[in-house]
Amino acid sequence: MENPWNTNAEWWQENFSNGKNKEYSEQLLPLIVELMNGCKKIIDIGAGEGQTLRALNSIDTCAVGIDISKKQIARGKKLSSSALFTRSAAEELPFNDSSFDGAIACLVLEHVELEMCVREAARVLKKSGRFVIAINHPMIMSTGSMWVEDWSSEPPEKYWRIGTYLCEEISEENFGNGVSIPFTHRPLNRYVNTLSECGFSITRMIEPEPYLELDEDLSWKVEMSSIPRLLLLLCERTSGSS
Ligand SMILES: C[S@@+](CC[C@H](N)C(=O)[O-])C[C@H]1O[C@@H](n2cnc3c(N)ncnc32)[C@H](O)[C@@H]1O
Repeated sequence: MENPWNTNAEWWQENFSNGKNKEYSEQLLPLIVELMNGCKKIIDIGAGEGQTLRALNSIDTCAVGIDISKKQIARGKKLSSSALFTRSAAEELPFNDSSFDGAIACLVLEHVELEMCVREAARVLKKSGRFVIAINHPMIMSTGSMWVEDWSSEPPEKYWRIGTYLCEEISEENFGNGVSIPFTHRPLNRYVNTLSECGFSITRMIEPEPYLELDEDLSWKVEMSSIPRLLLLLCERTSGSS
């Protein structure tokens, strides 16, 4: 079976990359660039068509992207002929130990085997190397989690139902028009404990206020602004070989 990220590469590129999605271009990419500041040699794990890579290359870094999808890499090379890409799985990185001083995995960990990927990130990072992960906030991704509008209460309420947060689960995320991608929901402790077991210390956690597009229903702005969509963890490789 073809990798779903290859089958659906065009859908991702049309909707989420290269300035098409303001949450990315206005919020996430500037934040990642800020968090990676000071790292010179960076690996972008699951780089997609390379929007993070291009943002990092616009500052003084040398970044290389790896991705499993041929079509994502082909598009990335078309968009920037100087961008460095290698096709590989996040679970088996084709680099020597201690090759990088920074690593980023942006909206990727939900699609990979977590322990193997984090262990590989630790292996290719130098001691004290930085690992930034950005994930969909686990609180909003469990089965049954959704916005609920209750028009029977006075005044009407809108609140977020958490769903079965503690159940780790792989589900197919359906985006319409036949686009369906497997997604693993994990509670936050799985990320934190895996990072710790693989030799990382978490030094900062960021839950950005959601970026609201002007065409979103702003009558619920207070409610919408108070539930984060994204979670970023800034980690340092503190143990393991040098
Ligand atoms: C949601 S996209 C994010 C792309 C990019 N990081 C960004 O933020 O624009 C997820 C990417 O992870 C890649 N991916 C999924 N599973 C992978 C794996 N096991 N190894 C490497 N890349 C993988 C997909 O091909 C896809 O490009």
